[in-house]
Order: sequence, then C-alpha cells, then structure tokens
Amino acid sequence: MCGIVGYSGEQQASEILLDGLERLEYRGYDSAGIAVISPEGELQIRKTKGRLKVLKSLTDNGRVFNGSTGIGHTRWATHGEPSDVNSHPHLGDRNTIAVVHNGIIENYAEIKEYLISKGKVFSSETDTEVIAQLMEYYYEKERDLMASVYKTISNIKGAYALGILCRDYPDVLIAARKDAPLLLGYSDKGHFIASDVTALLKYTREVSYMDDGEVAFIRKDRIEVFDEFGAPVEKEHHYIDWDVSAAEKQGYPHFMFKEIMEQPEAARSTIVPRISSGRIAFENFSLSDEYLKSINKIVIVACGSSYHVGMVGKYTLERLIKMPISVSLASEFRYADPLIDENALIIAISQSGETLDTMEAIREAKRHGSKILSIVNVKGSSIVRESDEVIYTLAGPEIAVATTKAYSTQLIVLNMFGIYLAELLGTIEKEEYIQLIAELRALPDKMSAVLEDTERIKLYASRYFNQESIFYIGRNIDYALGLEGGLKLKEISYIHSESYAAGELKHGTISLIDNGTLVMAVGTYGKLLEKTISNILEVKTRGADVIALTTDSHREAMEKAADMVITVPEAPVILLPSLGIIPLQLFAYYVALMRGCDIDKPRNLAKSVTVE
Ligand code: AGP
Repeated sequence: MCGIVGYSGEQQASEILLDGLERLEYRGYDSAGIAVISPEGELQIRKTKGRLKVLKSLTDNGRVFNGSTGIGHTRWATHGEPSDVNSHPHLGDRNTIAVVHNGIIENYAEIKEYLISKGKVFSSETDTEVIAQLMEYYYEKERDLMASVYKTISNIKGAYALGILCRDYPDVLIAARKDAPLLLGYSDKGHFIASDVTALLKYTREVSYMDDGEVAFIRKDRIEVFDEFGAPVEKEHHYIDWDVSAAEKQGYPHFMFKEIMEQPEAARSTIVPRISSGRIAFENFSLSDEYLKSINKIVIVACGSSYHVGMVGKYTLERLIKMPISVSLASEFRYADPLIDENALIIAISQSGETLDTMEAIREAKRHGSKILSIVNVKGSSIVRESDEVIYTLAGPEIAVATTKAYSTQLIVLNMFGIYLAELLGTIEKEEYIQLIAELRALPDKMSAVLEDTERIKLYASRYFNQESIFYIGRNIDYALGLEGGLKLKEISYIHSESYAAGELKHGTISLIDNGTLVMAVGTYGKLLEKTISNILEVKTRGADVIALTTDSHREAMEKAADMVITVPEAPVILLPSLGIIPLQLFAYYVALMRGCDIDKPRNLAKSVTVE
C-alpha cells in the first residue's frame, strides 16, 4: 500500500527519495510527494495525484530542491480521495512540521476537532494531517522536538509508520513506528528510513527493523533509537542478501512474467537447503518434537493467494499427517471466536509478512494460547516478529502485485513441513518419505519443463481474452488450484471469474453456463479424473468451451472430453499443484497482456495490504 522513504546524509536528498519511491511503485499507489529541508530551514514540498513520473517532472527529477534531508511518500487513498491536497507529505499550518505516514489514525476526527478549536486550519481530508498539526501545536508551545514527538504519538490511536521533518532541524529526520513496517538503513554516505527494503537496496544492505513504540532520530553520521519511554535502544543490524537485479525487470516485459519464469529457481532455493542426508530439516527450528507431538489441530490463517495455498495444504497435510486441518481467511478468523487452545498450531502464511488481517489473526490465536508457525518471504517483517517460529520461502523479492513465485514457494514450504511432521508423527511409510524427498528434488526441473510450453497457452489465451466471464472447476487439490487460477485472472485482466468445486456446479452455478462460455477444468488428480470428466461433459452439453489441465498420462482421456488440453508432468499428488499452477498463471498473464492491462500494477490493488 503506501510507501515511505527518508534520507539524511551528504548527498542531495530529492534524487534519492524519488529513486526509492520508484522502487516502491509496485506496492500500489495513487499519488506521491516529497519534502526536503533547505540549508536555510525551509520545508520545500511537491506532491501530486497520479504516477511518480508526474512528480518527477514537477521537480525536474528532484533538481529543484537543494537539501540533504527529506522524506518521500506514495499514497494509497483511505481517508479522502486521491488528490494533490490529500497526498503526503502533510504540513502543520505554520509550515514547521512535515509528516509522511503509513497506517490509519483511528481517533483523527476528535484530534482534528480539538485542534480546530485551538485555531489550527486544516487543508486536507486525511487522518495524517492531524499528526503534523498536533506535533506542530506541541512544538510551538514547548520548543522541544523530542517531547513533541512523544506527546503526539501518545495521543494518536491506530497504526503508523512515520517520517517527520522539522524546519528548525535541517539535518534531522525522525521516524516512529506502531503496527506498520519501518526500517532504518545505514551507509557511509548517510542514513535512511523505508517502509520496504527494496527502496534501499541500491544504497545499502545494512538495516535494522524498528519495533512498536520506538522513535528514531536519523542524521548524516548517526541514528539514535529510543523506546516508548524515551530510553536509548541498541538495534541489531541485519544484512540483506537480496540481489538488486532481483528487483529489476532484466529485459522481461513485466515483473509478473519474470517472476513466473523464476519459479524453478525459487523452488530450488527453497527446497535444497532444507534437505540434508535425505531428510527434511529446518535450520534452528525451535518447535520441539515433544510440542509437535502434543498438537491435536492445525489451523491455517492467511489472505488471498496465501489462503489458496492453505486450501491446497488442507488436502495435502490431512493426507500426510492424518489430523484435521482447517483453513480460515484471516479477516474472518479474528472475529470468529475460534475454538483453539495451546494444543492447536496456527500456521500463518504471508508473502509480505505485513498483512494486517493475518497479523491480527495471529494475535487472536496467541490470546488463546496457541503457538504460531509462519511461512513468510520477507525477513524481519512484522508477522515474523510476532510468530513463535518461521520457515522462510526463499523466493527473493516479488514485485508484481499478483503473486506467482511466492505462492509456489509457500506451497513447497507447507508441503515440506507436512512431510517433516508426518515422519515425526509416524503417519508416513518410509518408502513414501524417500520417494517424496526424491520428488521434491526433481520438482524444479519439472517446473522448468512446464514453462517450456508457453506457446500453447498463449494460443488459448488469444482465443478467449475477450470473454466476459471464465469458470474454473476442479475437485480436491484441483479445486484449490482453480481458486488461485481464478484469482490471478481477476486481479490482472479484470475478467469476472468463478472458481467452483466441480461437483458443486450442478447445485446452482451451472445455470450461468451458456454457448461459448469458457470453462477451465483442472483435473491433475488422477484418482478423481473420471469424476471431473463427468463435470466437463455436463458443461459441454450446455455449450461451454473447455480447456482442461491434466497430467501427461491423462492427456488422451482428457482429449476425448475437452476442447483443448494442457498437460504437466507426473508427480505425487501433494506436489501436483506446484506444477498445475504454472499454466494457470501463464493463461491469466497472456489474457491480461492481450487486453492491454497494466499487469504489474493492477487497478485498486496493493502489494501488501496493511489496513483492515
Ligand atoms: C495475490 O496475487 C494477491 N496479491 C493477494 O491476494 C495476496 O496474496 C494477499 O493480499 C495476501 O498477501 P500476503 O501473502 O502478503 O499476506
């Protein structure tokens, strides 16, 4: 969603801010702005609705501003429409304090009313403006910057990551955090803040993660961090090993296509370090065998595509560990008064590690005494820090809003954990265990083989990219795959889609099938193939065109029923979704491409959803 970058150092700030914001564009935004303090102590601000290129041209690529301390922001509107005036940074009405903010201030209306009664004049509809006005109000009364920051954050309720400038301190950038990600970056040429590490990769790999309640004072030569009571804090420094080029397109037309193509490598990076001497092992894994043997329930909580991984996991993990697995949308789980206790293990799945709904679901589970195992792609993210244990997906940075390689690596990690647990609980035969390890090792090459057949998928996309609605049907793991296939299509092509358990279609949705309606029938699970074929015949009888997805050995059977067939190599059933998802991602990609959609930045969507 919104993005923050800040800098205080020896270089011109504005170019660094614009560059950092450009690297955050993928998160989704509708307006952007920067503020830089001039050496004379003037707060120079430009902000505008629309894309970053508008801001760049308004500032002559940042050259209009002289100054080496500044803040920048990309806004995804919550309070107040996308407009120049609602864009960040926001100023107090005396132009003394400037603020950029990610998050939501819940009590902004009452603070605004109070400040108006004190004579403050507001210019925007945003919740953020109250932070700038309130801090300025305290600062003007007491002339104590640190005290004003602490007084302000103690009076605001809600979630915030803040970057703050005060015109009386031209070399100081202030940061504060509660329930919204913010990290500090260290380099010889200056220091940084950012909401997302990708903004800083070009300048530094040395970072520390701010914790809730902390306030940081950032200068060219040092960063000082204080806890919620104002006591100094020593921050642990982390080294980010992501490659800068991993966050660049490298000649690919879109990040999404690049990330689809990177899946075999991402899978290899995720699998190989976790297999040692023919057994699965997770480094420094703190969930003891004794604890894992004591659990009697697993609940997977996640949102969007991560939830769809959980849907696959329900089928694959139940098969492996013979224990009931429930999957819950994080946004529902937190208000459902869940029936869990210390014997339930909660698996939270999140690419970004910042999804607020998932975070709140974790907090709810912890209140019930359950332990949290998270599966996350971004190191040091908020969900990681609130979990008892994490297994990272090693997919590298994922920039396209529509997830592909993160989804695939989440699936792999979840299955590997299932196999690990099955061995521990004695619910898997030794031969099957050995076979699954060998198949996991072979999986990246099979994924590469699927990626060789893009032309066929492109051809099918060219026949159907003008459809108004596309249906996905499947059973068991194939139903879960259809959910993800349908979401990919909706997200980037804006075509309506329905994903249905194939057997459920005749209970209502089949009324929507008409002449020429496209049905994508997912039938990779051999055991249920005949049942899925019956459902294909049902829709074909009603005029549907059917593209079927199955495995190589079932091509012939499918060709008798469907109009078009895509196949993937054979694999054990729990690994089939890792192959089956690839043609569905490619189909959505090509359809969106042929419709001329903005594939990497689909309308209204954000890469990490940090509001409820
Ligand atoms: C998937 O393409 C979407 N970007 C979205 O559904 C996403 O999976 C969801 O918002 C959850 O995000 P997370 O994995 O970062 O928690």
